[in-house]
Amino acid sequence: MDSNTVIYGVIGDPIRHSKSPIMLNRAFREKGINGAYAAFHVTPGQLEQAISGVRGLGFRGLNVTIPHKIEVMAFLDEISEGARAAGAVNTIVNDNGRLIGYNTDGIGYVRSLKEEAEPSLAGKTIIVLGAGGAARGILWALAQENPAAILLANRTESKAAELASSLSPDYRISSLSWSDLREACSSADVVINTTSVGMSPNIDAIPIDATWLKRGAVASDLIYNPLKTAFLAQAEQHGCRIHGGLGMFIYQGAYAFEYWTGQSAPVDAMREVVLASFG
Ligand code: ATR
Repeated sequence: MDSNTVIYGVIGDPIRHSKSPIMLNRAFREKGINGAYAAFHVTPGQLEQAISGVRGLGFRGLNVTIPHKIEVMAFLDEISEGARAAGAVNTIVNDNGRLIGYNTDGIGYVRSLKEEAEPSLAGKTIIVLGAGGAARGILWALAQENPAAILLANRTESKAAELASSLSPDYRISSLSWSDLREACSSADVVINTTSVGMSPNIDAIPIDATWLKRGAVASDLIYNPLKTAFLAQAEQHGCRIHGGLGMFIYQGAYAFEYWTGQSAPVDAMREVVLASFG
């Protein structure tokens, strides 16, 4: 760090568990960029002041995590189309004093899915389990890939219907009854768990029976703690290709890095340092 160091950070509440600082600082080092990235504990009552601080101190970029991803939008100058569709911002770019909000979670998820499991989603049938914020965050990005259909199923079915109808008909997202999942899974190419079922400490729980999937289909989970959920372990046993949630975290950070610096992200180094931090 010196007088030319460009400052970045992440705000959230809680924040001390965040792996973003080690990941982004590793990326700056790998690319020889004079940047520094820190974690800031910001409570909801401090959010507006925190964003004023970004302007006042000239931070180049900020990541935003729980619980601020929705409320932060009110304090920005511009919101990207993807962030508007996701209803949430996780990355802010400070463009000469103009703060622009993006959402790199959804596109980060899709880039990870394509790199690690299914190179092309075009013409594919995708089932999304869950209709909370995590599901909403990836739907726009999935729809950009031109799949044949995206079917949204949620335990509380009305929430899936509401979410599907709140998004543009161009996205071809329809809701699916939870009780029809078994049959629908037998012809789906990709099944994505966005629910919290299987997250540590409830690591034995599964959202649906993975043997309903076709062999060779992709089972994907947004959860990365544990790295391999019980749903993925069962799917793998059954002969499916599996895709865990760590890549989404890595690639949401990779996109943020790329938006801020204009350089390609050193994804392998980023993944390595995050994996090492899990011990
Ligand atoms: P997030 O913002 O992380 O998506 P959320 O909005 O609380 O979190 O949503 C959690 C999702 O997990 C919801 O889709 C929820 O289903 P309901 O809308 O029916 O509550 C889903 N979920 C949680 N526990 C579940 C369970 N035991 N079985 C199936 N779905 C579950």
